[in-house]
Amino acid sequence: MATPGAERGQWGSRVGFILAAAGSAVGLGNFWRFPYVTGQSGGAAFVVIYLACVALVCLPYLFAELVLGRHTQKNPLGAIRTIRPGSPWVLVGGLCVLTGVFILSYYAVIAGWTFGYIFKNLLFAHLDFGHFIASPWIVIPLFALFLGLTMLVVFGGVEEGIERWSKVLMPLLIGLMIVLIVRSVTLPGAEKGLAFYLKPDFSKVTGEVIVAALGQAFFSLSLGMGAMITYGSYLSRHEDVVVAGSYVALFDTLIALMAGFMIFPAVFATGHDPASGPALVFIVLPEIFQALPLGNLIGALFFLLLSIAALTSTVSLLEVVVAYFVDERRWSRKRSVWVVGALTFLIGLPSALSQGTVAGLSNMDWLFGADGLLGQHDFLSIMDAIWGNLALALGALLISIFVGWVWGADRAAEELRQGSRVGPGLVRVWQFFIRYVCPVVIFIILLNVFRGYLG
Ligand code: PHE
Repeated sequence: MATPGAERGQWGSRVGFILAAAGSAVGLGNFWRFPYVTGQSGGAAFVVIYLACVALVCLPYLFAELVLGRHTQKNPLGAIRTIRPGSPWVLVGGLCVLTGVFILSYYAVIAGWTFGYIFKNLLFAHLDFGHFIASPWIVIPLFALFLGLTMLVVFGGVEEGIERWSKVLMPLLIGLMIVLIVRSVTLPGAEKGLAFYLKPDFSKVTGEVIVAALGQAFFSLSLGMGAMITYGSYLSRHEDVVVAGSYVALFDTLIALMAGFMIFPAVFATGHDPASGPALVFIVLPEIFQALPLGNLIGALFFLLLSIAALTSTVSLLEVVVAYFVDERRWSRKRSVWVVGALTFLIGLPSALSQGTVAGLSNMDWLFGADGLLGQHDFLSIMDAIWGNLALALGALLISIFVGWVWGADRAAEELRQGSRVGPGLVRVWQFFIRYVCPVVIFIILLNVFRGYLG
């Protein structure tokens, strides 16, 4: 750790930061969430809107989170408090910390399935997914184990824990993906999947598709809940935020697009429904593995790497909350990790039990009516729709207003230029985006959802 005496740390190198931030961004969001949301939202047209959201809203917004973190050297709540002490804006920091806990609570459940699939591929190849996720004696221990692993890494602190892992494993994952893409696109019948993924049909676009695309873009880039504020706070003044941030966004987006090439040709080649929801990846991928020599082994390796990608993301979720307790409440890192980890476990239990184990959680129409809440019916998916989509968009709306108008685009720009070679023209473009484009676009999209909801 670079700062003696403090419980904070700093990245060992720029590459270290990029890999760790990319490690936060690349996770189940790319491999699990992106394909299933794309599948449910009609395919290529969704992908186009997703890319537009990444480029026009998320990228400029990412720089805002990074500079806010680096400037204040704090967790999200502390960052806001440093700039506007005693103002209601501090509540936005509170929203970030809360969102972190809630996303982690169900994310670690799915990460637990991923982890379990390593062994399932090797030992119980024909156990079906539906049974797997409905068995509490499988799912809960896996969830606890994954949360425990996350806690272990976060104990280790910034450089030792987070950075070291990311460096080795990301390249391996990409290599394996390439093999799987080649297999998937050469399956007989793959063309239909490619057409679904690449030929946009804009008549399918609705307000819901647009908000799903925006939410997915925030989720995938770990934005809207302060993960990048926190990671930015471990970044040194000499680093080029624009370059580092752009690498992260590019990398994350490429991996999501690659995941689509891996999944959709196989979905159609194996006769599955692309709209089948959160189970999509877990059902379709094992079928590609079956079509490969040493399929079980490759499958196990793939889910191992995917578990690790998920781990670098859960670490960033937990790190936000832990950084809050370390900075603001002066707790030790160890105590923060224990308390937050235990709390997250309790909050995550209903999600773990909502996939066929407990009827009232697996279908909550008794509470929300036949349309469900935000179109979702089980507890886990409802949590994902609320926290993984709306709360992130709301957080990003408020933080972009905070950076653009309260802290001020000029002061933020000054921080952005520290250590960066971007010219004054580009900086002005960025200021325009953070003040107008980001908040206005997010606001309109959110308004659309709530209007639809209120009738
Ligand atoms: N970006 C991560 C993923 O795609 C999930 C995540 C969201 C992590 C928000 C941190 C904050 O899997």
